[in-house]
Amino acid sequence: MTAERARITVFDTTLRDGEQSPGCSMNQQEKLRLAHQLDRLGVDVIEAGFPIASDGDFESVKAIAAVVRRPIIAGLARACRPDIERAWEALEDAARPRIHVFLATSDIHLQYKLRITRDQCVAQARDAVRFAKSLCEDVEFSPEDATRTDPEFLCRVLTAVVEAGATTLNIPDTVGYTVPSEFADLITTIRQRVNGIEKVTISAHCHNDLGMAVANALAAVSAGARQVECTINGIGERAGNASLEEIVMAMRTRPDRYPYETGVVSEQIFASSQVLSEITGVPVQPNKAITGRNAFAHEAGIHQDGVLKNPLTYEIMTPRSVGVPDSKLVLGKHSGRHALGIRCEQLGYQFDRRALDDIYRRFVRLADKIKNVEDHHLLELIRETHKPATSATPLIEPIAEAKAAAVGLPAASAAAAATPAASASTSNSPVPEPAKPFPIAPVTNAFGAPLPLHHDTHHEHQQQEDYLWGV
Ligand code: KIV
Ligand code: ZN
Repeated sequence: MTAERARITVFDTTLRDGEQSPGCSMNQQEKLRLAHQLDRLGVDVIEAGFPIASDGDFESVKAIAAVVRRPIIAGLARACRPDIERAWEALEDAARPRIHVFLATSDIHLQYKLRITRDQCVAQARDAVRFAKSLCEDVEFSPEDATRTDPEFLCRVLTAVVEAGATTLNIPDTVGYTVPSEFADLITTIRQRVNGIEKVTISAHCHNDLGMAVANALAAVSAGARQVECTINGIGERAGNASLEEIVMAMRTRPDRYPYETGVVSEQIFASSQVLSEITGVPVQPNKAITGRNAFAHEAGIHQDGVLKNPLTYEIMTPRSVGVPDSKLVLGKHSGRHALGIRCEQLGYQFDRRALDDIYRRFVRLADKIKNVEDHHLLELIRETHKPATSATPLIEPIAEAKAAAVGLPAASAAAAATPAASASTSNSPVPEPAKPFPIAPVTNAFGAPLPLHHDTHHEHQQQEDYLWGV
């Protein structure tokens, strides 16, 4: 008999904490596009932005709340009335809104940044949560810099906000300072000392300054946290946030150590990573776990030999399980619309029939000239086809247009939301630079001969021969 696995809530903050990283800011259409992909990925909560931070952020949160209806949509607010009111204004049309209130609690922050006493901090946190609760049932509270806060005082603040109605207590390692054993102890202390803790969800929010964000988040879960806050590709302030794909795949690959479940559709991980990278123009580090282009490439002769004999020798998860495209699907002039459509989906684009026909015609002309059409060619071609006034609708469901109109977006914006490239020409925001192609370089073997980028996942001998054709 298998024991029931605890369900972990995946709170994605790519659009808020992730967007704060240098070079990763996104406009409204880009945020909408990513929010739809996060929905497909199956995350439970999308933190869509920080509505008081700018009008752009406010509008983005509002637009996402209007069209992305399955996940909870969260908006960030400092522990003060204007922030909370603005967050609520952006969220009130959401199917499942959450106000996320934060206030620093460490002495360093109280003394130098906020210039308030501990007593004032407790009162401000309590009042802010009470006010948020008067607007919204679902309220999350974060004591910023929790891991450098006196644990006794931290528990006092947390007890006060639980009394005031907080439903999730998020424990941020704001500066990426903690280590797994210490963070697990902190979660245990909170579970033991905060009154009313059994009524709320404990969450972990880890930064990667010492490269331990994922390890810390997993340690927190093992100690009783039931929500993890994370970002695609681990983007975020400074060294980034805990990476969503690493947390999810650690749980999926090591259920013996992490017997937890998430709602994440792991096959959507690669597409999510690509969409983000394409939108921001920030490439994924080649050796990045799970989503880097080398994550499933084997080059060393000994490894290739092992994988040829049995993939289990060097593979702990299959490329297919995270949605890495099947290299056996070589795209050339004999390929059909079906294969083309599948590859487009793997790259993060979904097209209706007409749009796919458009792409297909151009694809055949290109394939005639260059024989094998690689992913980067296809991305270029998609962008070309998506010059203004196209009918293609990558990633944005048709419903987006109607819903966007319902929240007062002009028709042009709604159309733009449905067509990212068109959005650049119709929105008021400055026209973004043309997106750079996703940098998928050919992988070569030790002799410089090209290897297919990703291999089939059936782990059958014959297929491995194909994969290793360059040896
Ligand atoms: O890192 C942090 O402390 C945060 C909070 C706002 C949750 O991002
Ligand atoms: Zn953070």
